[in-house]
Amino acid sequence: QTLKKYKNETYLDFSDPTNDKAQKKALEEVRSDFGQEYDLYINGEFVKGDAGTFESKNPSNLSETIGTFQMASKDQAFDALDKAWDAFESWQYVSAEKRAEYLFKAADVVRRRRLEINAWMISEAGKSYLEADADTCEAIDFIEYYAHEALRIDDGMDVLSETWGDYNKTIYMPIGAGVSISPWNFPFAIFVGMAVAPIAVGNTVVAKPAPDTPRMGSILTEIFEEVGLPKGVFNFVTGGDIEVGENLAKHPNTRFISFTGSKAVGLHLNKIAAEVADGQKFLKRMVCELGGKNATVVDADADIEKASTEIVKGAFGFQGQKCSASSRVIAHQDIYDELLEKVAEKTKALSIGDAKENHIAGPVINQKAVDKIMSYIEIGKKEGRLVAGGKRAETENEGYYIEPTVFADISEDDRIAQEEIFGPVTAFIKAKDTDDALRIANGVDYGLTGAYFSQDPKKIDRALREYRVGNLYINRKCTGALVGAQPFGGFKLSGTDAKAGGRDYLKYFLEPKSTTLRP
Ligand code: ALA
Repeated sequence: QTLKKYKNETYLDFSDPTNDKAQKKALEEVRSDFGQEYDLYINGEFVKGDAGTFESKNPSNLSETIGTFQMASKDQAFDALDKAWDAFESWQYVSAEKRAEYLFKAADVVRRRRLEINAWMISEAGKSYLEADADTCEAIDFIEYYAHEALRIDDGMDVLSETWGDYNKTIYMPIGAGVSISPWNFPFAIFVGMAVAPIAVGNTVVAKPAPDTPRMGSILTEIFEEVGLPKGVFNFVTGGDIEVGENLAKHPNTRFISFTGSKAVGLHLNKIAAEVADGQKFLKRMVCELGGKNATVVDADADIEKASTEIVKGAFGFQGQKCSASSRVIAHQDIYDELLEKVAEKTKALSIGDAKENHIAGPVINQKAVDKIMSYIEIGKKEGRLVAGGKRAETENEGYYIEPTVFADISEDDRIAQEEIFGPVTAFIKAKDTDDALRIANGVDYGLTGAYFSQDPKKIDRALREYRVGNLYINRKCTGALVGAQPFGGFKLSGTDAKAGGRDYLKYFLEPKSTTLRP
């Protein structure tokens, strides 16, 4: 069978009434399935949790329960890891072609269920239609891209040399069974990407979804069940962050820990990964993608209209709950006022409300997020000047709504200019010139994404070299990396810069083996 060329999935245009209607219909269908119970999936079997159950709620409307999920005990999490190792015995030797075949089939199932998956995500995470569809498309991209990459890597690395008549080749071996701990903000794409990448190259996984979005993870379980992925290759374990996540990270047989989430948890897991537990026979691989304090830098010669539109998208898409969000705007003093006015005006125009009605500004994820974001808004009121938003939004339903918020006249060292808020808040900082702007942009602990607006090729060239972030975008927003085109990951305390959706990523789950054949 010939391999189709890899290509990114295209988003649906929801301004087309046909698509809008189809998404609304899928939402109605999914709503009639609210409140069901979902099990753990260990070694190809659906099992109840020994530590009770928990509910997932709709953040747009707290009276609605998405579903009931299992709390796995530590022993069940360890059992899943044991079973993943058992499955590794054979999965590591399944051909790359056969593994890719399962994955291409899985991608096709996601395509078939696309509107339904969007609907679950709109309901469980509070995404707008486009944000949900982009997430589902990214999941398809991850599956297909990693399948393609696994096939390419299977050919090994180029022959290095044939000195003394030897034939030398480096081949890549899967490393074993590990754990992936994923976040709620890309509840399908990142969950899928983090599970599929190790599997694509012959490893096995225990996947723990975020407690806020377990339904999205359980969908992958259904998909792997449908395509007949061998038992134990993928295991789905919901439950407590400590009981399941931390205990699995500590386990001596956990070969890799793949984590996407907060800096605090990532640094903690990184420390755990560095300790060699009793009986451990390898160094654990740690892949982590943490936070950001990303800036959009707008220079004096930039297209202000375009920059203001992109800032609003980058700061407030999915309520700013992206590690890539533009939570700072660093504006050249000559255009600061004009840019601020445009951004404030566009921010105030964003419609706020229930995600099922496709409002651009839906709810944030949970009460803890509300408390954290509102406390930063209070800090911002003291540190600068509030120009848009600044309070909980009044809506029909009881949900976690916060107005998209813009602060002006923030100093580069202020808390809201330094600390990750993970919500719909952005802070304007004035820069004297290009030097000053790049210095301020780089003056944070993080180095995940950044945007730079200018028309001057020399200045753009400087930004390309001096702006220290893992993903830099010129004259566009700093969110929305595309798999295969913009491999994603950050510098500094933003993580290991493993570059999800890029050619380097799968190597984190492989060990290179140099082989020499002498005739
Ligand atoms: N990969 C996501 C983005 O680029 C976080 O926005």
